[in-house]
Amino acid sequence: MAEYNRVSECVGLITLRNPPVNALSAAVRQGIVDTVQRALSDPNVKSVVICGQNGIFCGGADIKEFGSNMTGPPLIPMIHAIESANKPVVAAIEGSALGGGLELALGCHYRIAHSKARLGLPEVSLGLLPAAGGSQRLPRLIGVPAALNLITTGRHVTAAEALQLGIVDQVTDHNTVAAAVKFALSVAGRSLDPRRISTHPCPQQPDLDALFEEVMQKVRQSARGAIAPIACVQAVRAAATLPYAQGMERERELMATLFTSGQARALQYCFFAERAVGRWRMPSGARWDTSKPRPVHKAAVIGLGTMGRGITVALAQTGLSVIAVETQEKQLMEAKQAISGMLERGAKRRGVAPALDGVIYSQNIQAVADVDLVIEAVFEDIALKTKVFQQLSAVCKPGTLLCTNTSALDVDQLASETPNPELVVGMHFFAPAHVMKLLEVVYGPRSSPQAVATAMQLGKKMGKASVAVGNCRGFVGNRMLKPYIEEAFFLLEEGATPELVDQALEEFGFPMGVFRMSDLSGLDVGWRVRKGDGLVEPGTASGRSARIRQGRRYSPLGDLLCEEGHFGQKTGRGWYQYDKPGSRVARFDPWLHSFLGAYRAQHGLVARRIDHQEVLERCLYALINEGFHILDDGIAAGPEDIDVIYVSGYGWPRHRGGPMFYANMVGLAKVLERLEHYQQLHPEVPHLQPSSLLRRLVASGSPPIHKWGEAIKKLHSQL
Ligand code: NAI
Repeated sequence: MAEYNRVSECVGLITLRNPPVNALSAAVRQGIVDTVQRALSDPNVKSVVICGQNGIFCGGADIKEFGSNMTGPPLIPMIHAIESANKPVVAAIEGSALGGGLELALGCHYRIAHSKARLGLPEVSLGLLPAAGGSQRLPRLIGVPAALNLITTGRHVTAAEALQLGIVDQVTDHNTVAAAVKFALSVAGRSLDPRRISTHPCPQQPDLDALFEEVMQKVRQSARGAIAPIACVQAVRAAATLPYAQGMERERELMATLFTSGQARALQYCFFAERAVGRWRMPSGARWDTSKPRPVHKAAVIGLGTMGRGITVALAQTGLSVIAVETQEKQLMEAKQAISGMLERGAKRRGVAPALDGVIYSQNIQAVADVDLVIEAVFEDIALKTKVFQQLSAVCKPGTLLCTNTSALDVDQLASETPNPELVVGMHFFAPAHVMKLLEVVYGPRSSPQAVATAMQLGKKMGKASVAVGNCRGFVGNRMLKPYIEEAFFLLEEGATPELVDQALEEFGFPMGVFRMSDLSGLDVGWRVRKGDGLVEPGTASGRSARIRQGRRYSPLGDLLCEEGHFGQKTGRGWYQYDKPGSRVARFDPWLHSFLGAYRAQHGLVARRIDHQEVLERCLYALINEGFHILDDGIAAGPEDIDVIYVSGYGWPRHRGGPMFYANMVGLAKVLERLEHYQQLHPEVPHLQPSSLLRRLVASGSPPIHKWGEAIKKLHSQL
């Protein structure tokens, strides 16, 4: 809705009212149309100010209206009517002007922003483009290069940058509405022609073709298959080369294509899924809205290796006091230096003071006596972790939450070794922990809802996409990764190359295929895990039986490379070769290819032609199938949890919505049929055996993804 008041005798003040962000719902648009009309027809009103209630100008279109039949006045003519008004209209921008909110402001003749306001056209992140004239007005206002940057990335700018770019006319530290009213009074009666952005051409730009070619190339590369950034470039090109009306037509056509694309649906699903995972629930019935988190003022990190350092930075950046404990003196000194460097660089980027004093270093675990929460990140060794947890239980004040950053150890086993298992949860970060968005909060059967609530809230404070998951080997992310990686190994045995597998997955949209990723993270990591599982045997055995271990198909290829000392980038050799250890540019390795040939010969395997489709189906459907097992087991509460984990932590292309959304798009029956097909060909591979949940969902008519929760509940109640 929009409220109308006359202020300072001759300024019509329109206030958008639609909490929480004054989104442009049908009612708000109707309100704007009515109040603008009222202001323009009132002879006592000389100028108009538009603002939003509660310190927020406007967060943009009402995303809930997407997909439904639009009612109420459309945005484009509404903005046009404002721009054509014969009285100056000033936007008073507090909080944020995003998407349709900024497009509305661009239709105004002047824009005054509060110094803390943020502006942007983030439509691209929802698979769309600014289609209420934003793609046509912004380049006319600030020039093609700057507009391309903002529209194709969707990034938000501060008020200071907006002023520098020319998006706003004035920035104030004081009351924005009062400043806008004063400004509106000062410009009353002035000619508005120069202020109607749509009536002007874009500022001259030399070598326009070369600029667009260069930008298009860059955008195509970084988009990894997403179409919205490309459509954004095309829309800006229309602004730069066509009259406004034709540019608007092009904007409309491009938007229509995007709107009906699966990608926009996937990206909007991700938007809602990221919000849904905050409303966590446990199988016990405990939930986010009935579990109160404990306050955390002081935290501790135990073990300052790769993970502990990043976790310390992430905690300190939230403003918490952190006690950082490391037993090895040399490690402690190195960690101190590394953490200070990360804090300084992070602070510089964010334009704030580094929280160096927020971290206290110690070699003594006694130093954590008065903290509210501890995150343990020592070596992945259950005996060591158990010892550390027992020490912590003795040292910490009652009620301190004990969290482990284990990658795969049993959180419940660890909890059972402490006097207060209800205070134990997993907080599974991803490397580098201060950068990566994902956090799996792992609860065991004994974790209290309050412990989960506290860890989830802390994750949110650190800016992480935090997902509560049940306790099982590998939790959600790594558990699903295992069959994906195993399929990639099997494909190599059958005739594929690392290059072919990686290319198929990278064309699908992953930043790196399985083998490049494995070279980056180190082949020795998986080798150590497989050794621990008793799977690794000497590489001399040959024939089919050598590739069956613990009753299922096994590929020793990774183990054999490790035996050669080929650990990936760190040794300069892995699935690819590198110029020197630590170098990042992967090159074809002729040795690896003859090694693969000799391996196949030794094991009686005949290489066959494998295409991209088979790579995608076997790797991705195996991963998705594990996702259905996870849902069936109740380890993840819903498909959104799995999808957020994959999109924010495992490089799954966001425009494909996450593995479970992708399965829904492909069609559950098709996924089932392909799994059955491959299972027949490879009966010794259990992860290709379709999950019973997938079968049951298909049998119940393949409900759409938003109905899976209901369907799973119903199916479980029938068991
Ligand atoms: P790391 O080997 O880099 O660091 C472990 C640190 O703990 C070392 O500095 C060691 O001196 C210290 N430490 C050992 N015993 C200690 C004790 N009693 N008190 C204090 N410090 C002690 O290991 P990283 O990679 O940081 O892994 C730590 C944990 O995080 C492991 O459980 C690992 O599985 C898990 N993790 C690792 C990921 C990775 O990508 N590296 C990702 C997610 C989890």
